[in-house]
Parts: sequence; structure tokens; C-alpha cells
Amino acid sequence: MDNNLEKLNAAIAATKLIQDGMIVGLGTGSTVAFFLEALAERIRQEKLHIIGVTTSSKTELSARQLGIDMMDIDDVPVIDITVDGADEVDHNMNGIKGGGAAFLMEKIVAKNSKRVVWIVDSQKIHDNLGSMPLPVEVVPFGSGKLIAEFKRSHLYPTLRKDNGVPVITDMGHYIVDLALKRIDQPYELEKYLDGQIGVVEHGLFLDVADEIIIGTIDGVRRLISEA
Ligand code: A5P
Repeated sequence: MDNNLEKLNAAIAATKLIQDGMIVGLGTGSTVAFFLEALAERIRQEKLHIIGVTTSSKTELSARQLGIDMMDIDDVPVIDITVDGADEVDHNMNGIKGGGAAFLMEKIVAKNSKRVVWIVDSQKIHDNLGSMPLPVEVVPFGSGKLIAEFKRSHLYPTLRKDNGVPVITDMGHYIVDLALKRIDQPYELEKYLDGQIGVVEHGLFLDVADEIIIGTIDGVRRLISEA
């Protein structure tokens, strides 16, 4: 099924949250690509002053090409709002990110944002996380040992490759995908992964999103955190 209409509807709804003068974290992925275009259009038409903070080299390039002013995360005092995509979302508003290998920067930007909004199409909503492999960003040195540890822990790891060569992230690391199928204890898994030497970050985003905008064919639905 073509989800582009749902992605577009979610993206357009998110642009309405952006106000003049905001510093905006710009996520990564195909849904965010719609958001970048819609945001650039609003900036042009309404002559808004918006500064973007990137979550990947790809987004940095697209945003600049669209005429969005960009600044380094360390050069802005605070990020008012971040709009990002997600690969899977459950009913507790937890998610998996990292299909596009940008989740380390995405998590850093999210953690430094006053408000985090995810824009997703309806196929991203699941009862349980894990139907897509969980990405883990690891230091290349000793990654074979870490993969062996993951195997011993029954986490079904695979080193992510492109044309037979390990994928290298924007931050210079490898990605190991864990084919878990179903994650029943996300917080325990998070604790385990956070405790592994060589793991830089993982794609479990628990209690990160403040709002999730789910695109539908004719509009959007919203999940809003009560925390
Ligand atoms: C990038 O690493 C990911 O976290 C993306 O945000 C996620 O894969 C969503 O991408 P799509 O909008 O293309 O589905």
C-alpha cells in the first residue's frame, strides 16, 4: 500500500505546530521529507524565522537545499520542538527508530528538545514493538565480540551491510540489527543494551515522544502523552 498520503497528512499537521522564531529539530526519513517541504513552504510564504537542527547528514543537505536556516546543536540554547518519524510505535507511545541508521543523532536531538513530535503513517502502529529488527549502534572495534554476546543472549543479531560492506553511520559506527520479532520487556532490554560496552546507542525510544501524529487517508489521529 502507498502510505504517502498518510505521511503527507501527518507532516502537514506537524508544520502547524511550528511558530515564528522556533528552533526546530529536524528528524530523518521519508515522512520527515514531506515535513521539510511543507515547513520550507510555510517559511517562504509567511516569512517565518525558523532555525533547524539536524539529525543526519541527509536531512542537513535536504533542509539547506530547501532554504531552511540550519545551526549546529551545540550552537543553539534549546530546541523548541523536534519533528521526527518512527519505524514502529506502540500504544504506550514507545517506539523503535533507526531504520535509516540516524537514531543516535535523533536521540541526542530528542533529548535536548522541549517537545518531541513523531509523524507516522497508520502502518507504524503495533500492539508490541519488535516486528522490525531493533537497530543497535556499536563501535566497530570489538563488534564481533559484541555480536557473539548478543547471540548468547538470544537476541538474533545481524551486522547491517550494504553491498556486502558494513553500513557506517554518520558518527562512524556500525549498526547491528536484532531480529527479536516481539519485545515484551522493552525497559529491561533497554537496561541490558545500555550496560553493554561497545554499544553507543540503540533504537528503543521509550518515553521520548510527547505527541504522535498518525496520518490517515483523510486527516490525522493524535496520541498525546499525559506525562
Ligand atoms: C531514521 O534512522 C529513522 O529513525 C526514521 O525516523 C524512521 O526510519 C522513519 O522513517 P520513515 O519516515 O521513512 O518511515
